[in-house]
Amino acid sequence: MINLHKYPSIFIANWKLNGNLSFLKEYFEKLKVNSNNCTVICPPSIYLNTLININTKSIFVGSQDVSIHKEGAYTGELSSKMLVDNNVNFCLVGHSERRQLFSETNINVKKKCINLIEEKIIPVICIGETLEEKQKNLTEKVLLTQIKESIPVISNDENTIIAYEPIWAIGTGLTPTFEEIDSVHSMIKSIEKKFKNYKILYGGSVKSSNSSKINALQNVDGCLIGGASLKVDEFNIIIS
Ligand code: PGA
Repeated sequence: MINLHKYPSIFIANWKLNGNLSFLKEYFEKLKVNSNNCTVICPPSIYLNTLININTKSIFVGSQDVSIHKEGAYTGELSSKMLVDNNVNFCLVGHSERRQLFSETNINVKKKCINLIEEKIIPVICIGETLEEKQKNLTEKVLLTQIKESIPVISNDENTIIAYEPIWAIGTGLTPTFEEIDSVHSMIKSIEKKFKNYKILYGGSVKSSNSSKINALQNVDGCLIGGASLKVDEFNIIIS
């Protein structure tokens, strides 16, 4: 398993349902890796195998999802063992798009995490509140429930990452204030003693113009980047 604690910052590119083979080739020709930090690219799953030899000291491949099942009659699914075969070291779990559009539950997030950790793949567990929940001051309550119900007992700060992604900030250009981000991260780290040293990433409209300020916040250990990660010049600035 990757030693997370040797990296001051972790940057994860979530390409979602974007990119193709020629995009991918051009992207990796232009990508300027910063070897001090950990950079992870999560392409659509069909391209994971194309990146099988890309893993270097500081650039890794992540999957956008994994099955809750280990094997069997589950058409269209990919297992954590199959990810291992493709040199995948990280996997997003419980992204808000999967929770909202594909009915992913906390229970399933937990099962996926266990399968991944058993295969030494690091789950990146995404949590976040809706705008309505934020306006009703429910952020803390919502995050606590997501954390309690989706993080398995076998998780620890060496094998699991948490990504705080306010749903209203994803793909909208809106972000919480820097103070809000830092205080939510600090709240997560103080829920229980065991969360104190977890790597907690921020995601939601991270771009080159705000990434260095967000990443410099005391309780932020890196960023999960969607839209801006598709522009390699922009992403190069974010990870630099
Ligand atoms: P965004 O997406 O950077 O485009 O807001 C982030 C995410 O969905 O992880």
